[in-house]
Amino acid sequence: MKQPIRIGALVSGSGTNLQAIMDACELGDIDGSIVFIGSDTPDAAGLKRGRRLNIPTFVVNYGSIIRRYKKTPETVTVPDDFDLSTVLSKQTLFPADADGETVKAFFITRAAAEAKLLERMNPYPFDLLVLAGFMRNLTPYFIDRVNTVPDHPRIMNIHPALLPAFPGIDGYGDTFRYGCKMGGCTVHFVDYGEDSGPIIGQRAYEIFEDDTLASVREKGLKLEWELYPKCVKMFAEGRLKKIRETYPLKDGKKMHRTVVRILPPPKR
Ligand code: GRF
Repeated sequence: MKQPIRIGALVSGSGTNLQAIMDACELGDIDGSIVFIGSDTPDAAGLKRGRRLNIPTFVVNYGSIIRRYKKTPETVTVPDDFDLSTVLSKQTLFPADADGETVKAFFITRAAAEAKLLERMNPYPFDLLVLAGFMRNLTPYFIDRVNTVPDHPRIMNIHPALLPAFPGIDGYGDTFRYGCKMGGCTVHFVDYGEDSGPIIGQRAYEIFEDDTLASVREKGLKLEWELYPKCVKMFAEGRLKKIRETYPLKDGKKMHRTVVRILPPPKR
């Protein structure tokens, strides 16, 4: 018999996806509960959803760390166990030719923030960390300290587009402005890149001539609220298996990709 899972959540905004997951826990659809809610900004309305239910909440103010680094970089200290060259060798957020100072500033400020996040999360052991509208990229520093068991990813994200199309901060806007006739949302495990991790689930909707950005977002969000709890439920049931696939290509080369296989539901 599987134990109920302990779910940690990180939010930046209104937290409607978090609410959908909390509701599914409450209804017993997900065998689990939310054990903490963290945010990168004190203004996240999602924090209030947790406070109402007496779920522990905390804030690590990324913005203030980043502003401080711009003014007085020497006052932003990286954790003792942070090694810039290790992080740079793993990350795929920036291309190899990106401006060195920008990249360094990014990883130093994020490591400072992520060390605080890990510290705040520490009192609350968890099985799964859900990013529910958390608008910060996580770095290998943080990811490696959460994913400590090989081949058992445990950070999930929801993205408002049909990945691998339109990664980044404005999935619905990018889908709409491109003139797509279908849009969607994707739940995936987090890897070292931006919205590039192995896909767990996707939902799609049609875009019609009279749709607007607002109506596209509305259709997408409705699907997000169905999809995210379903994916968390599958995790709780132990049905998500990460595997490394190799596919032969026409030119004799091979393509490697880490994917998620969905195992059959448990027998009742
Ligand atoms: C969602 O569209 C999600 O896909 C994206 O940010 C939005 C968050 O909405 N990452 P909410 O905070 O869950 O209401």
